[in-house]
Amino acid sequence: MEAIDKSKKDAEKLAAAKEAVKFVRNHDVVGLGTGSTATFAIKELAERIKDGLEIKAAASSIKTEELAISFGIPILPLETLGTIDISIDGADEFTETLNLIKGGGGALFREKIIASLSKNAIIITDSSKKVNLLGAFTVPIEVIPLAYQYVFNKIEELGGKATLRVKESQKFITDNGNYIIDADFGLINEPAQLASQLNQIDGILAHGLFINLTAKIIMAKGDHILTFQ
Ligand code: 5RP
Repeated sequence: MEAIDKSKKDAEKLAAAKEAVKFVRNHDVVGLGTGSTATFAIKELAERIKDGLEIKAAASSIKTEELAISFGIPILPLETLGTIDISIDGADEFTETLNLIKGGGGALFREKIIASLSKNAIIITDSSKKVNLLGAFTVPIEVIPLAYQYVFNKIEELGGKATLRVKESQKFITDNGNYIIDADFGLINEPAQLASQLNQIDGILAHGLFINLTAKIIMAKGDHILTFQ
C-alpha cells in the first residue's frame, strides 16, 4: 500500500463524503457515523440542509450527536428507530467483498446497530483503508467490564493477542460504559467465521468485524471515486 499524507487523505475523505451525501433524499432518516471521515459527511449534510434539505438523523456516538446538533441537524433517539433510510460512516479497513473492520474510535456498537437498521449503509473511505485481507488493523471488541479477563482468555484460545485499550493512561470507556479490547488475529482469512466465533463469547457486546452489513463502499483515490457494491 502506497503511503499517503494527511492532506491527501483528507481530500479523499472529503471527496468520498461529498459523493455519499448525494444519495441522501429529502425527509430521509440518516444514520451518522463517527470519526474523521464521517465528520466530513456530517459537514456536507449541514451544507445541504442550508440549501433546503430536510432530514432527521441518528448518531452513532455522543461526539457525533454533539457535532450534528452544533450544525443544526435534528437528532432522533436511536432506540426509537425501527429502520434508517441511509447511513454514512467510515471504516478502519475494508475488502472489496464489503467486509470491514470498524471501531477505531470506539463507537462500534452503535455503529453496528445503525448499519444493521439501515436500508442503505454506505461506507466512505480514503484509499489507505482498502486491503486484500482484514487484520493489519486490530479488531476492536467492546466488552462488559466485569467480563474482560474472561474475554481476554477466549480471544487467546482463538489465537488472538488481546490488548486493553487505554487513553491518557486510563482504561478507554465507551459511550455505553464498557471497555475496548483490541485483538490482533494477524491477517484474517475467514472473517465471517471469526465474527461468528466472537459472537458466541459471553461478555462481548460487539466486535468490529462488520460482515454483510454494508450496501456500498465509496472510496476516493486521488481525483477518482471508486464504488464497491
Ligand atoms: C469509529 C469508526 C471509524 O469509522 C473508523 O475508526 C474510521 O475513522 P476515521 O474516519 O477517523 O479514519 O469505526 O468507531
